[in-house]
Amino acid sequence: MTRVLDRLKRPLGALRISVTDRCNLRCGYCMPEDEYTWLPRASLLSFEEIVRLTRVFARLGVAKIRLTGGEPLLRRDLDQLIAMIKPIPGVREVALTTNALLLADRAERLKRAGLDRITVSLDTLQPDRMAVFAKSTHHGDVIAGIDAAIAAGFTRLKVNSVVVRGYNDDEIVALAAFAHGRGIEPRYIEYMDVGGATRWRSDDVVSREEIVAALEHHFGPAVPISRDDDPHAPAERFRFADGVVAGVIASTTAPFCRDCDRARVTADGTMFLCLYADQGIDLREPLRAGASDDALAALIAHAWEGRTDRGAETRLAVGDRGVLVPLQGLRADPRREMHVRGG
Ligand code: GTP
Ligand code: 5AD
Ligand code: SF4
Repeated sequence: MTRVLDRLKRPLGALRISVTDRCNLRCGYCMPEDEYTWLPRASLLSFEEIVRLTRVFARLGVAKIRLTGGEPLLRRDLDQLIAMIKPIPGVREVALTTNALLLADRAERLKRAGLDRITVSLDTLQPDRMAVFAKSTHHGDVIAGIDAAIAAGFTRLKVNSVVVRGYNDDEIVALAAFAHGRGIEPRYIEYMDVGGATRWRSDDVVSREEIVAALEHHFGPAVPISRDDDPHAPAERFRFADGVVAGVIASTTAPFCRDCDRARVTADGTMFLCLYADQGIDLREPLRAGASDDALAALIAHAWEGRTDRGAETRLAVGDRGVLVPLQGLRADPRREMHVRGG
């Protein structure tokens, strides 16, 4: 295994693989538009191609794989992909980020395939809110999906909630109580001005400070938990007086780019070095043109070694922030969308 460091001495340690750009929700912070341009079918990587790339990334030091989307469970037979990725030398952990709409029927098969961890996106406990904000009447399926994951034996489950002012900021405590009651760790994500968030306004961001204050008000004083065991994790974790442990991902007000060890690959095989990057690196073309593993490894290592990206920090430095990518820009290049890049 060769360790590669970028220009800020950050190692390449984790890979987020988006397996589809499709989603069966339309969350207001991610897919608020009525229409989207989808990646052409023929450009989507096959499982064999994804596995090949994962092998190469693992050779370069990637130990953590996270499957994302869109909604990854929309990709048929995802459990087969997991079973193919899990035994790759160097891969320590395979995780999944899902909205859980389709999880209830799939949890057991995912567990059997070797999936290590699941993180569920759940922003509200109120079905009528989800109907308006995410345009789905299937709130019950999400809860059933979470419970099926517990029943299938998944531990270390997390629930991610993006907090948006005026939508779910009055549910911070309720979401923590819901998760804690099921042995799940609740995590709160600051609303980010990423590509696709075309309704983003700085006034709608609920800061880490506000989130922690709301939790402290209910659960008692927060004590920060050391990140020594996982220095690259985006979440800051807190233990509250009555035992609740919650994480906050403060990408907007307190970005963590200095510790970022993540590369991303879209469903069509484009590598991104940052959630905020405008350009990616095409891995599909060389892959399909017959490039050797060594050649692919050299391409990826070279890209990583030149990396200086600090997207969220750079955005923070912009005074009067508006939408990052206007709608026309997204239409011209769908890979700038968060749902294509994989959150
Ligand atoms: P673990 O810590 O391994 O549980 O996973 P994770 O936090 O890396 O994955 P998850 O999919 O749960 O990430 C949660 C959210 O954090 C994402 O949906 C993004 O909103 C945000 N996030 C993840 N990675 C990055 C990143 O590299 N940069 C920024 N700014 N935000 C990120
Ligand atoms: N801000 C913060 N997180 C976002 N996600 C998508 N769009 C945004 C945004 N604008 C992430 C969230 C969500 C997952 C599907 O993608 O983590 O749970
Ligand atoms: Fe990494 Fe870019 Fe996110 Fe910063 S903004 S943490 S560099 S992906």
